[in-house]
Amino acid sequence: MKPKPIDRQELQSIIDRHRDRKWALIPLLQEVQETFGYVPPESIEPIADALKLFSTQVQGVITFYAGFSLEPKGKYVVRVCRGTACHVKGGRSILRLMKKELDLDEGETGEDYRFTLETVACLGACFLAPTMMVNLTYFGKLSPPKVASVLGQYKKDKGD
Ligand code: FES
Repeated sequence: MKPKPIDRQELQSIIDRHRDRKWALIPLLQEVQETFGYVPPESIEPIADALKLFSTQVQGVITFYAGFSLEPKGKYVVRVCRGTACHVKGGRSILRLMKKELDLDEGETGEDYRFTLETVACLGACFLAPTMMVNLTYFGKLSPPKVASVLGQYKKDKGD
């Protein structure tokens, strides 16, 4: 999914709905990210102004929470676990295979914005090692054929 161009009016109306409510920073950022697929960097200043925060505070929250991104991501965000439990069960070869299948390196998004490849310290499902997620769906006890079949399902979706 190619990133949606930023509709400034839409962005402003989201911000206005949360104006003066400092505690609403996270829900506001979630709404911006759901609407545009990421948090556009140019939205930081107006968000900070509306909530009477410093820009650095807004930036800090975005950086702290892995769920927020300042860059557009692919329609499918693939997160491969590189934690110890997954590592000892072959996580490294899963990551290698994923890089090859998607032709992406860690942290990269394809030019067509279909896939983003990321690694995470632990997906919190060590008993299923080695694991990965595609958006919010977990896949565990991975093997190279299972990875190929899971990715095959997503690759079939030619998307928008
Ligand atoms: S180490 Fe991979 S899920 Fe925890």
